[in-house]
Amino acid sequence: MAVNGYIRAQQISKIYDTGSLAVTALAEVSFSIAQGEIIGLIGPSGAGKSTLLNLIGGLDRATSGTLTVGGTELAVLDDESLAVYRRNTVGFIFQAKTLMPALTVYENCMLPLIPVPLPESEKHQRVEKALEEANIAHRAMHLPGELSGGEQQRAAVARALVNDPQLLLADEPTGELDAENAMRIMQLLQALNEQGRTIIVASHDPTTLQIANRYLRLSDGTIVEEW
Ligand SMILES: Nc1ncnc2c1ncn2[C@@H]1O[C@H](COP(=O)(O)OP(=O)(O)O)[C@@H](O)[C@H]1O
Ligand SMILES: [Mg+2]
Repeated sequence: MAVNGYIRAQQISKIYDTGSLAVTALAEVSFSIAQGEIIGLIGPSGAGKSTLLNLIGGLDRATSGTLTVGGTELAVLDDESLAVYRRNTVGFIFQAKTLMPALTVYENCMLPLIPVPLPESEKHQRVEKALEEANIAHRAMHLPGELSGGEQQRAAVARALVNDPQLLLADEPTGELDAENAMRIMQLLQALNEQGRTIIVASHDPTTLQIANRYLRLSDGTIVEEW
């Protein structure tokens, strides 16, 4: 385990306080991920995979422990700085159906760039490049509802790429796809990793994760196995 990893988690815990009941989703989890790795995050439903991705991606905050990405300790960032971190560093791919249904694929990919201070022409170039990378440029002017599940998920990958993130976090990205389309998404992630992006893919199905170069297995909020 690398000591000075790109992502370093030291005894991070996440306790959801739901009023009457506190749920410990992560219990003192420690690990290190080097830049350029592609990590499979395995474990049954409820193990804490989404919680961990949300903490790494700055969508939520740990209850305790230290989480550092690229030398930045996320806990010290205020909400605004955390939003900048998310926007500049992280691309998220979720299970499914996260594209805005009334917008074309192209318009969906423009959305993350709205708050970014770049000339319009540069934004269009970025969207076009992301659509090419995700092999979905030919459907750019279609609405999500006109696309197959696999195409919608490739569009979601394109949307995650427009900010040129160093880190891609994919949460069950193939959960609603058939085996062939699942494999295409995994191969796409693998190609993006080969360009140097660090990727973490969470899945409860180990067969969809053959592309990872290392695995972490979560169970009941703790890492029970690493290989
Ligand atoms: N917002 C929340 N409020 C309360 N409990 C939550 C919340 N999100 C997740 N949990 C709980 O935390 C645990 C881990 O959930 P999650 O991270 O979604 O696991 P996984 O993605 O591996 O299925 C589960 O027990 C789940 O019920
Ligand atoms: Mg989950």
